[in-house]
Amino acid sequence: MDQAQQLRNVIKQKNQKNITNAKVLTITSGKGGVGKSNTAVNLAIQFRRMGKRVIIFDADIGLANVEVMFGTVPEYNLSDLIYQGKSIREIITKGPEGIGFISGGSGIVSLNNLTRDQIDYLVRSLQQLNDLTDVLIVDTGAGISDTVLEFVIASPEVLLITTPEPSSLTDSYSLVKALYKNPNFVQNGTNIRLIANKVSSAEEARAVYEKLEQVTNKFLGGSISYLGMVPSDPNLERAVRSQKIVSLEAPTSRASKAYELIAKSLMGQRQDTYRWGISQLFNHFVNKC
Ligand SMILES: Nc1ncnc2c1ncn2[C@@H]1O[C@H](COP(=O)(O)OP(=O)(O)O)[C@@H](O)[C@H]1O
Ligand SMILES: [Mg+2]
Repeated sequence: MDQAQQLRNVIKQKNQKNITNAKVLTITSGKGGVGKSNTAVNLAIQFRRMGKRVIIFDADIGLANVEVMFGTVPEYNLSDLIYQGKSIREIITKGPEGIGFISGGSGIVSLNNLTRDQIDYLVRSLQQLNDLTDVLIVDTGAGISDTVLEFVIASPEVLLITTPEPSSLTDSYSLVKALYKNPNFVQNGTNIRLIANKVSSAEEARAVYEKLEQVTNKFLGGSISYLGMVPSDPNLERAVRSQKIVSLEAPTSRASKAYELIAKSLMGQRQDTYRWGISQLFNHFVNKC
């Protein structure tokens, strides 16, 4: 048995004993600037209102959107955990409303080059998140890089953000296609759920969904599900411009109400999707080593 195999076994046994209960939501899109970070942050606020503990994992390397929206610069990030031995609690920064966030830093880029000890420590640390939060929201950042695909493949629930712009539809489809072509992707292991963002009506949202679902079905033999819509709302733009969060600044705005509805339908799900969140996510990284 090689070292990597031993590690997989160790982690798997650990997982079986663990009672994991945090819900993992991975937010992605093929294209940048379509509303991922706003979705992450506003859903986080809505979950807080529902009494849930929330941690955002900002895997958006370089742009640091969540930090900007929270107006807080984290002291440590994931790299400090991996390379400096910081604990998971030390790298969680507190944002508004008690939302925790973890900045990926450059830690995620080099995930494949870690030693066995580093991976073991990383996995154990990340599994501690199960005790620290009810919901873990992963903001993947833009593009269809290997790291983005890894997160998506490892997540039980993926929120795909798409706007009615043709380029957003095309890029979302490219992402879904890259997923389906990836040998590690398990179709019934990941629920891809569409959020139609910046729409002008429910009909437009539905049309965005139907276009994506049709091509996914026709060319990939797959399926995505419809989660909800967020209207194009000047209140949201205004909030972003002043480094605020629309759900806090304008709680009765159309965008805030839309996020509230989406958060509620995400929480109304069956219990079993809660259970295989974080373990599955990090098992997957370990399985790659
Ligand atoms: N529902 C919306 N209504 C109006 N503007 C929006 C909406 N969602 C996003 N935007 C605009 O798009 C910009 C990019 O959003 P952001 O969440 O940062 O995208 P991403 O994280 O995908 O790059 C925001 O600054 C905002 O101006
Ligand atoms: Mg972003």
